[in-house]
Amino acid sequence: MSNKTPVSRSGRFASEPDASVAEFSESVSFDWRLWRHDLLGSMAHASMLRRIGLITKAEEKAIVRGLEAIGKEIAEGKFRWKPELEDVHMNIEAELTRRVPAGAKLHTGRSRNDQVALDMRLWLRERTIEVTGDLRRLQQALVNLALKYDTVVIPGYTHLQRAQPVYFAHHMLAYVEMFERDHERLIDCFRRINVCPLGSGALAGSTLPLDRKFVAELLGFVDSKGNARLSQNSMDAVSDRDFVIEFCSAGALIAMHLSRLSEDLILWAGAEFGFISISDAYTTGSSMMPQKRNPDIAELTRGKTGRVFGNLMSVLTLLKGLPMTYNRDLQEDKERLFDTSDTVLATVRMMTGMLGHVSVNSNACSAAAGDPALIATDLADYLVRKGVAFRGAHHSVGRLVALSEERGKPLNQLSIDEFRSIDAHFQPDVLELFDLKRALARRSIIGAPGTAEVKRQLARWRRILKTKR
Ligand code: ARG
Repeated sequence: MSNKTPVSRSGRFASEPDASVAEFSESVSFDWRLWRHDLLGSMAHASMLRRIGLITKAEEKAIVRGLEAIGKEIAEGKFRWKPELEDVHMNIEAELTRRVPAGAKLHTGRSRNDQVALDMRLWLRERTIEVTGDLRRLQQALVNLALKYDTVVIPGYTHLQRAQPVYFAHHMLAYVEMFERDHERLIDCFRRINVCPLGSGALAGSTLPLDRKFVAELLGFVDSKGNARLSQNSMDAVSDRDFVIEFCSAGALIAMHLSRLSEDLILWAGAEFGFISISDAYTTGSSMMPQKRNPDIAELTRGKTGRVFGNLMSVLTLLKGLPMTYNRDLQEDKERLFDTSDTVLATVRMMTGMLGHVSVNSNACSAAAGDPALIATDLADYLVRKGVAFRGAHHSVGRLVALSEERGKPLNQLSIDEFRSIDAHFQPDVLELFDLKRALARRSIIGAPGTAEVKRQLARWRRILKTKR
């Protein structure tokens, strides 16, 4: 094999591909990112070939040393990637073979089809664990902010209309719950990524007695009991990318949750709400309007959701029409996967950093939370306790609200006679309902935003986040 001949073209082809074809079809410009995993997979494969007697100990050593040297050069930025060699796999193998004769035996019993599936799984396994760690830190940042402002009450909203009072902490913990499910999804997704496809060959395994279990164990494709996890169908192993789709899907949900959190922060940072300030480190100014302090990081996080959703749709569409087994279309999975993983990682980290730079403006919050209309539901509950059917109670309180609007005074400034003019079940003690402290003490059931319950949930999350990674 001449140095210039791409590995897969030796023999069968008389000429090099047209330059435009090579440029169109190369993937090394993006799949070079798999280099570390490609090296690891090749080293494990070489060890296995030695174990089953297809290469000698000396050849194994030469291959592993050669791969290590290449790895060092790549890490130092000294390796010259050649687009004419198409992808990361052929670049590394061709360079190895140029340096080490035994390199020509490395591809024994292996195809780039099972090799690329392996590299992707190795890469994504690592990334998945990284994202789970970052999600934990994001949850921690939310809990920290909640703890710092654990006495602050804000209106909870439905339809973006003030609805009922909640602790600011309760609002933060809602996101902690969302990110917890995202975390679970990634762990679940990891189980299916963590399956070794090597040994599936191009599509039909190999006639050679490859020791698949040995390779899987070397590369850590094992379950919690240490048993090797091997793909059980060679065609499935080289052609499906559902593990990529699952990750992109889990990533899309994370992006969606981040986007909602961003939206809340953006609204709250505006003068109309004024609930929070984001410090200079995480805001930008306007080139024209000197007074502006813009929540760009939250906006970009919200904006990047689009590409993460798009990536999911891309990989789903990529797979849907593919006949079995490997088709070159599959090369298109990488940029989408990389983009989702990079974007999710970056946005989770930026959000975590930003939450450390959010301060809550208690005055604005308590002014908004002090709106007596937020207690309307409590008034209905009061009547229910007096034996009124809820629908009737709801109706009476509705009339009370209409009366307060008509008289131009807030609910809590209506006289007891005015209350009783609508429903005789109202007693003078009804006015105590408007005391926000008591209102929050009343919300004591599991999951409610009451004082004791929010305290309990905060303690629960502190415990969970301390013990879990
Ligand atoms: N660059 C290819 C990919 O990303 C690697 C596998 C190529 N296999 C092949 N039969 N051409 O999918």
